[in-house]
Amino acid sequence: MSDDLQKDTTQGKIKEFEQKSQSIKMMGGEKQIKKQHDLKKLTARERLDLFFDKDTFQEVQLFVKHRSTLFGLDKKEIPSDGVITGFGKVNGRTVFTAAQDFTSSGGSLGEMHAKKIWKIMDMAIAAQKPFVALNDSGGARIQEGVPSLEGYGGIFYRNTIGSGYIPQITAILGPTAGGAVYSPALADWVFMVKDSSYMYITGPDVIKAAIDEEVTHDELGGAIAHATKSGVCHFVTENDTECIEKIKTLLSYLPDSCHSPLPLADSTDSAQRICTELDTIIPDKTNRVYDMKKIIKSVADNNEMFEPFELWAKNIIVAFIRIMGKPVGVIANNPRFAAGVLDINASDKASRFIRFCDAFNIPLLTFTDVPGYMPGTIQEWAGIIRHGAKLLHAYSEATVPKITVITRKAYGGAYIGMCSKQLGADYVMAWPTAEIAVLGGEGACNIIYRSEISAAADPAARKAELVASYEDQFSNPYFAASLGIIEEIIVPHDTRKRIVALLDALKDKKETRLSKKHNNIPL
Ligand code: HXC
Repeated sequence: MSDDLQKDTTQGKIKEFEQKSQSIKMMGGEKQIKKQHDLKKLTARERLDLFFDKDTFQEVQLFVKHRSTLFGLDKKEIPSDGVITGFGKVNGRTVFTAAQDFTSSGGSLGEMHAKKIWKIMDMAIAAQKPFVALNDSGGARIQEGVPSLEGYGGIFYRNTIGSGYIPQITAILGPTAGGAVYSPALADWVFMVKDSSYMYITGPDVIKAAIDEEVTHDELGGAIAHATKSGVCHFVTENDTECIEKIKTLLSYLPDSCHSPLPLADSTDSAQRICTELDTIIPDKTNRVYDMKKIIKSVADNNEMFEPFELWAKNIIVAFIRIMGKPVGVIANNPRFAAGVLDINASDKASRFIRFCDAFNIPLLTFTDVPGYMPGTIQEWAGIIRHGAKLLHAYSEATVPKITVITRKAYGGAYIGMCSKQLGADYVMAWPTAEIAVLGGEGACNIIYRSEISAAADPAARKAELVASYEDQFSNPYFAASLGIIEEIIVPHDTRKRIVALLDALKDKKETRLSKKHNNIPL
């Protein structure tokens, strides 16, 4: 064979390859793509184009096909078997992904679709890099039967094996029903898009048939429902584009894996910056509210914070900030909602965040202003004891640098729960406005002086005297400081300076725990 002919043959094969690739990359075809756009959704490939830095996406297993012959599938082509998998750079850092393609058989998950996801998750875990799932699927491919259920099982297993090892993020960009909800639930972070995404175990029709309850898809499992009621969704976004952008922002705070250094952003903020606005933020009256988010932003680099769970359990705030370019996880009571009390949802929210940060070596900064635990039968019977214990467990278990700032109330068990010294805080500071006690003055005197008050000639006057004396002893940080239970009393405007210095001093902190299989967190 002449050289020229050989060249033609090779070129012919290359052309054939290019045509085949192009055809697969057309996904479910123009009609399906239009349907997707009409629903204000992007296609899987458009999402990936937005997500990855230009020309960095490397597709893996483009040519995989399903091999089911059941219920007419032998005659059905499903490009890429309904999922695009691969890796690329996001702001210069490697990220692995699986993006379900709703235009190809509704992104339904069959055996080979699942195996593509397994492969890319295995690569992410081996490479120690984040995994991002862009979900948009009708769920288990009904025609295939049990292999599709096995497919989900293998994904759940990998979600679990990779948990705490690599960051895992899932965006819900369409339907997610039945057991398909559990891969997102096993991931670290769940994003949803308003109006176009929903998640539920059983849909409205089944609910109507089973318990005669009427509810719409959106009321049941839309982004707002999961961001405000169930706490399943951590970030609500307006559309696919905003969702992709927010995932990138989240990734900018996270290391590649639990063994990787934290990402360092260029900091244009000063280590010595004085936060004068903090000197007037605490109201004179102890039961008045103030904006805890202003405190967090005030101490953060460039006053920036990135807040998951913004709409759920608002009585506690969790947020990522940067201090001198390095990520820090903030947990803070929020006096604006239920006086910042700790309840079941607040405990769950904070515990999950603390464990995530600790798993990925992100230092913890706690701001305390907590009147106690939420009383009442609703909380007790739903297990505030069990849920509140998670917070104690999460803080005690965490070995990252832990800094606590008490801004105002720190009462009772809730004082302990908000990263007090005995839960392993490395350094506890209090503002002069701090009140550290077992109970508030009124509640305390009602118990310890009950008979004395009722026997007094003027019970109200006697009670006021006793409350004043109690508050003189405890409604300040000096008693705690005298016992070394807090390290320092600081002027509020020095808070950022102190945090910068402490995080620098503690940056090489090493703390070990007993050698064992794993903790048994009270779930
Ligand atoms: C096979 C599916 C599918 C599925 C959608 N399709 N879901 N094919 N298995 N689960 C196909 C449709 O047949 C159609 O194929 C194409 O995807 C687009 O679907 P449409 O119905 O035309 O789209 P739309 O009207 O937008 O409705 C979307 C939908 C609906 C609401 C998601 O398709 C739907 O109800 N699907 C079934 C959902 C479901 O019950 N899944 C199983 C959940 S249980 P053509 O060829 O016409 O383009 C589950 C168990 C997991 O997932 C267990 C894990 C442990």
